[in-house]
Amino acid sequence: MSSEQIRKLFLDFFEKRGHKMVPSSSLIPDDPSVLLTSAGMQQFKRYFTGELDAEKDFGGKNTASIQKSFRTSDIDEVGDETHLTFFEMLGHFSFGYYFKKETIEWTYELLTKIFQIPPERISATVFGGDETVPFDQESFDAWSKLLPPERIGKGSREDNFWGPAGAEGPCGACNEVYVDDVEVATLVFMEYYCRPDGSLEKLKQKGVDVGWGFERLVATLQGTENIFETDLLQPLVSKIEELAPKLDERTKRIFTDHIRGIAFLIGDGLRPSNKEAGYILRRLIRRILGLQTKYDVHASLFLLLLETISEKYSGFYPELKNTDNIFKVFEDERFRFQKAIQEGIAEIEKRAKKSEEIDAKVAFYLYETFGLPLELTLELAPEELTKNLKKEEFDREFEKHQKTSRAGMEKKFGGHGLVLNTGELRAGSKEELNKVLRLHTATHLLQQALRDVLGDSVEQRGSDVTAERTRFDFSFERKVTPEELKKVEDVVNQKIKEDLPVKFKEMSKSDAEKTGALYFFKEKYPDKVKVYYIGDSLETAYSKEFCGGPHVEHTGIIGKFKILKEESVAAGIRRIRAAVE
Ligand code: ALA
Repeated sequence: MSSEQIRKLFLDFFEKRGHKMVPSSSLIPDDPSVLLTSAGMQQFKRYFTGELDAEKDFGGKNTASIQKSFRTSDIDEVGDETHLTFFEMLGHFSFGYYFKKETIEWTYELLTKIFQIPPERISATVFGGDETVPFDQESFDAWSKLLPPERIGKGSREDNFWGPAGAEGPCGACNEVYVDDVEVATLVFMEYYCRPDGSLEKLKQKGVDVGWGFERLVATLQGTENIFETDLLQPLVSKIEELAPKLDERTKRIFTDHIRGIAFLIGDGLRPSNKEAGYILRRLIRRILGLQTKYDVHASLFLLLLETISEKYSGFYPELKNTDNIFKVFEDERFRFQKAIQEGIAEIEKRAKKSEEIDAKVAFYLYETFGLPLELTLELAPEELTKNLKKEEFDREFEKHQKTSRAGMEKKFGGHGLVLNTGELRAGSKEELNKVLRLHTATHLLQQALRDVLGDSVEQRGSDVTAERTRFDFSFERKVTPEELKKVEDVVNQKIKEDLPVKFKEMSKSDAEKTGALYFFKEKYPDKVKVYYIGDSLETAYSKEFCGGPHVEHTGIIGKFKILKEESVAAGIRRIRAAVE
């Protein structure tokens, strides 16, 4: 079965069952709380809440779509057989009409009758229930009519509850549907609105949000576990093999995934930049350019790949018809990057002449200043100068830099695993820098307030501050209740109101430890450290922490502190996101 047939069979199936076809929305969403579109439901958020009327806008209460989606969460995994950045999501949605029984029966019918999957290969999981959301008996009963009990699992909140997309929004218990061990579909039953503090409120109407990962489904139906062997991606892999036969599998897959993502992002109007979504695009382009240089691949490969993508996809996505424009954006960025690389090479040569070693610090400087990835520095510099250059040390340099020296000039995309070095922020936006400083100081207050309210078992496990929010991970055994969160928020706001001074003292590590200042056990501190304290003196301070700074000078300018979300990230580790207004 070809991928084109699968798309059509899916859409026809739901059209026959009363769904209106809605085109994919852009990868660059209207919703400012998300960087890129990552799920089919995103364009329908306000139909689930009842703010907008699907009947009026689409001519029916149910819709179906094939949505272009992009997730950076798996970017480091790309290169194996199953992970992608860009993917398509087949979806069908109901806003207050059908619910669990119909959704489950259709899913089963689609799998067994239309896609001809033998029933014994199918299994499903439903939400097992917890203190706030009950066990999903209705889904369990519906599946029980179709599958034997041993193939219906009960899952936790982590696995069988979906949403919200962004800081708040519709969400609900979900079913996961598997063929063999591959998850092919997620059936979300929207029943709640998740507020920014994590509390749930019943939606006025019940909704359905079903998403099928297209590439995985195609792989399953084409009898492979490797998405790069599907008719969607194989033509790209073959083209790469033709022009660069020596590349290893992993590199071929990175090229394939990234160039497809690049084509779709540029096709939707995104341009490479040092900010937000534009930076994601820049990273994708520069990564494959780095690999191109490293493996000495001819640059004509990119144009040929873009043409292959256009042939394959423009029938369904007309924005990919015009490869000239996409190629031009790509070439401009290639040119800029090459210029940067050349400057980097000149710098390396300068050092080589003087036989100066290139250690992790220098490599990081080359990265930061010229955009030269570590791999390329290793490739381009004479070997005897880089023999002590280790990836772990480079990474440490990166992290150190990120955490301390210029907190305001760097930011990170929460949960997306992509580090953003906003060099442009330096000149561009003082406002953002101020926001980072306010949030950074607020994070110190937050840690102390958490210990006040929840006890000393609270210890920092991670932290990340951007201009939009702070994200703080800490050890704690259970969910923090809404009442406790409110208390923590109140304590922080009280300390802000007291307008306490924020100062630091520099001292030896052992003296610093004696002050009782908190420190992050994972961090490696130098022998001389700064202890930042919030209060009139180090002895009487409300908060003391080992920290490189920088901070605001007094807490009064932080503004109003607000907790947006509390959630679990791993066993015994909780995460709080908070913002200041
Ligand atoms: N919204 C659900 C998902 O993205 C279907 O998996």
